[in-house]
Amino acid sequence: MLVPLVVLAVFTAYGHADLPVTCYYEDIRGTWTFSETERLGDNTLDCEGPLGPVVYTNTFTLDFPNTVKDDLGNEGTWTMISSQGFEVNINERSYFAFPYYEGNWISSTSYCNRTLYGWSRDKTVRNWSCFSGEKTTAVPPRLSQGYKAILPDQLYREDQGLINKINSIQTSWTAKSYPENEKYTLHDMFLRSGGPSNPQESLPTPPVSSEELLARVSLLPENFDWRNVSGVNYVSDVKDQASCGSCYVFASTAMIEARLRIATQNQRQDDFSEQDVVSCSALSQGCDGGFKYLIAGRYAQDQGFVDSSCNEYTATDEPCDTDQSCARTYVSEYSFLGGYYGGSNEDMMIEALVMNGPMGVSYYVYSDFYNYNGGIYHHTGLRNEFNPHLPTNHAVLLVGYGVEPTTGEKYWTCKNSWGASWGESGYFRIRRGTNECNIGSFSVEATPIP
Ligand SMILES: *[C@@H]1O[C@H](CO)[C@@H](O)[C@H](O)[C@H]1NC(C)=O
Ligand SMILES: *[C@@H]1O[C@H](CO)[C@@H](O)[C@H](O)[C@H]1NC(C)=O
Ligand SMILES: *[C@@H]1O[C@H](CO)[C@@H](O)[C@H](O)[C@H]1NC(C)=O
Repeated sequence: MLVPLVVLAVFTAYGHADLPVTCYYEDIRGTWTFSETERLGDNTLDCEGPLGPVVYTNTFTLDFPNTVKDDLGNEGTWTMISSQGFEVNINERSYFAFPYYEGNWISSTSYCNRTLYGWSRDKTVRNWSCFSGEKTTAVPPRLSQGYKAILPDQLYREDQGLINKINSIQTSWTAKSYPENEKYTLHDMFLRSGGPSNPQESLPTPPVSSEELLARVSLLPENFDWRNVSGVNYVSDVKDQASCGSCYVFASTAMIEARLRIATQNQRQDDFSEQDVVSCSALSQGCDGGFKYLIAGRYAQDQGFVDSSCNEYTATDEPCDTDQSCARTYVSEYSFLGGYYGGSNEDMMIEALVMNGPMGVSYYVYSDFYNYNGGIYHHTGLRNEFNPHLPTNHAVLLVGYGVEPTTGEKYWTCKNSWGASWGESGYFRIRRGTNECNIGSFSVEATPIP
């Protein structure tokens, strides 16, 4: 495949593969032809250039909600990853590709009936190849503009008026000033809450819970927290992502750290390197954002996580210099809760949390959230920033849930990556049962190999 110069220019200018591509579910759903090179590579295979000689050609039909069939009738599954990419799993192989686009975050055109480049490998993560996909039906080019907020070059300032208002109109949660955030620019704060987000045409409707699921959930504890299961803590310490849009990495490492503790009864207490992912992953955009599914899932399966000492966190898009002699930790399985992007709901989250361990969740950070001090957060709407096409921007680790004894209000408990002095010792609680800020729709699970 030819990569036009305009795309290469964007890569060079940003120093990282920043991907301002927007393709919706219905753009990708349909029949594709995947052209694949020979299957002799390993996980160092670089697919970001022109496609080599084509050895395999497959036709896959992607359908609702997550089924895929080849032309022999073999079946598999597929999922969108937000509106930025898609993964197809069929015939013992896994394919991931970014759709084709031209432009940058200020203005771009997505051509959703072809891919930019993709990696394919078998289920055991061997026999890698590169591929490119072309859809058999036309999809009109999609123009996107201004999803990277063009923020004035100035320092973030605390707004005491907003804080007072939050504290006067409701009692569910309290707000306070964080003067330490005034060292950040507006753009830094934008990155701390997730960075550039991809719009969705419409929000997915969460699936309706079956009677069986509701019956199982009713048997689970009313309050649960992985920091204290019969007096034992399975969650690693709170970290700080600083002024880098790397929340998706911190949510991913935090999940694998916690699930390793659970799997080994705290024999393994790893502290994984977020910088390794920020600097070395071709599946994400470093400090400009990325997705938990591709990091806690695909990257952790393909490349594995290393100890933080193998590449210390700098919160910058520096070149990859991870110590390659470091041992790596892999995951055996990963999935969106419910089986595909947008396929989960809050009942499923309760069951999976208790049965399997902490998981990565995403939600939308409104500006009142920066000032969260404690209590059960809900979006106050005090600033006019309703944006229905941006379902989520920030990723965190879900560790528990409960019911407030005095008010009966239900909540989720999440570990943030804004340091231990933010919120409730680095954690926050957020309203449960109403899909607050879309927290219920995009959960990711992955199973580490101890
Ligand atoms: C898989 O890779 C091995 C070498 O690593 C090679 O011998 C084998 O032929 C490959 N299998 C396929 C189906 O290409
Ligand atoms: C994609 O669709 C456009 C029409 O919008 C068409 O011009 C183009 O040829 C198609 N590309 C492929 C690879 O099918
Ligand atoms: C853990 O929970 C139990 C029961 O709620 C409580 O008595 C205990 O103090 C908690 N331990 C810690 C370390 O918070």
